[in-house]
Amino acid sequence: EWILHNDEFIQEDELKISKEDRGYQFGDGIYEVIRVYSGELYTAKEHIDRFYASAEKVKIVVPYTKDVFHKLMYDLVEKNEINNGQVYVQITRGSYVRQHQFPADSSPVLVGYTKTVERPLELMRNGAHAKFIEDMRWLRCDIKSLNLLGNVLAKQEAYENGCYEAVLHRGEIITEGSSSNMYGIKDGVLYTHPATNLILDGITRKTILGLCEELGITVQETPMTKVQALKMDEFFMSSTTAEIIPLTEIDGFQIGNGARGPLTEKLQKAFEAKLN
Ligand code: PDD
Repeated sequence: EWILHNDEFIQEDELKISKEDRGYQFGDGIYEVIRVYSGELYTAKEHIDRFYASAEKVKIVVPYTKDVFHKLMYDLVEKNEINNGQVYVQITRGSYVRQHQFPADSSPVLVGYTKTVERPLELMRNGAHAKFIEDMRWLRCDIKSLNLLGNVLAKQEAYENGCYEAVLHRGEIITEGSSSNMYGIKDGVLYTHPATNLILDGITRKTILGLCEELGITVQETPMTKVQALKMDEFFMSSTTAEIIPLTEIDGFQIGNGARGPLTEKLQKAFEAKLN
């Protein structure tokens, strides 16, 4: 398997990361997960734009143009002969003697690798259960930062309670999932948190909002409360790897009739139609 290290392709056992890499010590870096369908990078431009935007927000300069970066991603997928899978790519502020403030002279370290992943068809059809968990993260959730401890702890708590995802909330307001965006549908209207600093503006979210426009589904980018969420007709989550997964139960309360809803299915079909 080929690994991308800065702009070079190496074998995994050749990869050397410093003990003082700031990603390792501080989570001082950002990342992206890009889906590969039939050997093609899906919504590559959007992911690359967000990668550069996240880097800029934390003042890391990606030392390649977006075109060069895109080519590196493309070559990585091709070299590893990935048909259906994903690319994980991160950039850290590099390594330096440990100090919190930015080092005067460190070079960013980029690492990318691929993995074969199948579409979660069973979950997409039958749905999953979720759990409400207080959103304890920082106030810049719009940055796809390597600091994922708040997300990791939330997902773990959901798993320990037999749930697939955490529905994060700040007080009564639902923000997003631990690694996904959240949506409710009531009387034909789709509700989701606006793309503020409190959520990651998901690429799948953008795709879904575009599909709603095409299908004539009204969208309200208004946050839902926990009480409102439980009264939705349908509820689902989205992400690059999950696509659209219905959430049929939250905190043990059944949503709608407890099965994938008609508009969720319609969105899944429309999403899938664009993959071919
Ligand atoms: N997670 N919100 C959070 C906190 C996320 O981590 C993700 C993605 C999303 C959905 O964004 P997108 O549709 O662009 O994948 C929302 C990725 C898949 C991950 O960390 O593995």
